[in-house]
Amino acid sequence: MSEIAAVAGTYTLGDRTVNRLGYGAMQLAGPGVFGPPKDRDTALAVLREAVASGVNHIDTSDFYGPHITNLLIREALHPYPHDLTIVTKVGAVRGPDASWNPAQSPAELSQAVHDNLRNLGVEALHVVNLRITGDIHAPTEGSIAARFTALANLQRQGLIHHLGLSNVTPTQVEEARAIAPVVCVQNHYNLAHRHDDTLIDTLAAASIAYVPFFPLGGFTPLQSATLSAVAARLHATPMQVALAWLLHRAPNVLLIPGTSSVSHLRENLAAGALRLPAETLAGLDGVGAE
Ligand SMILES: NC(=O)c1ccc[n+]([C@@H]2O[C@H](COP(=O)([O-])OP(=O)(O)OC[C@H]3O[C@@H](n4cnc5c(N)ncnc54)[C@H](OP(=O)(O)O)[C@@H]3O)[C@@H](O)[C@H]2O)c1
Repeated sequence: MSEIAAVAGTYTLGDRTVNRLGYGAMQLAGPGVFGPPKDRDTALAVLREAVASGVNHIDTSDFYGPHITNLLIREALHPYPHDLTIVTKVGAVRGPDASWNPAQSPAELSQAVHDNLRNLGVEALHVVNLRITGDIHAPTEGSIAARFTALANLQRQGLIHHLGLSNVTPTQVEEARAIAPVVCVQNHYNLAHRHDDTLIDTLAAASIAYVPFFPLGGFTPLQSATLSAVAARLHATPMQVALAWLLHRAPNVLLIPGTSSVSHLRENLAAGALRLPAETLAGLDGVGAE
């Protein structure tokens, strides 16, 4: 199978070079990111096809399911290809009612790292993002020093190769970078949600990857007349245009669109070949205001 994920080029993630088109595994768990998937064989097939298509950056967490997504990744892909970078995140646990609850004490972060190690079947995690809870999909100010220091201590013990952050403000990024190197930031960002425009450029200047979560709008998929019109003109789908726009946005943007479907995976990976002319990019800038 051709390595279609390589078409969009590469960027550095810690000590690795990864294809800019990756895959986000959150959609593989059951409804509400809780419990087993509706179709387990398809979930395994999505993971295997992603890697066969050249995806070498997969985003996950042990709180997807919980545990389910990591166990699916392990079943589908272990022993892992030498160039596969699995990025996980810690900072929450799930309640029996599917709730998302902060778990950010040093003991809870250590527990989460060990859960990820065990469920993914690895001796060290390549990248661990500290997921700040605050508001669920938007960062709020406040020191993250104690939490990030706890994770840096686990890194020093050899359990984690590289550290990242998720759902953070620019101030929190700077605070963390004074404690230990940060290789990626994963925040809510897409064509219609552009609060991080300045942060993306700051991180690009420091060679830090920016990994937008909800690149397609997440639980509320992007919908826009402009997006649909551009897609029709380019013989592409609106989702492909949304992903191509992110790839054009800055060289340090790494994509992890989430899907539970093989056909959507193929469609998303094909977006790497879509070139957006300058006037099209300018037109898409208005989407957030629609
Ligand atoms: N750090 C954080 O706090 C955080 C938060 C959320 C997510 N994440 C990570 O970011 C990744 C991406 O976010 P996400 O999965 O929530 O949202 P997303 O990628 O913006 O969108 C996923 C949704 O779009 C649908 N979809 C995917 N491809 C499609 C296509 N080609 N056409 C039509 N619909 C399509 C999926 O449904 P189907 O399954 O039917 O394709 C799913 O409902 C996650 O998988 C996760 O790894 C991180």
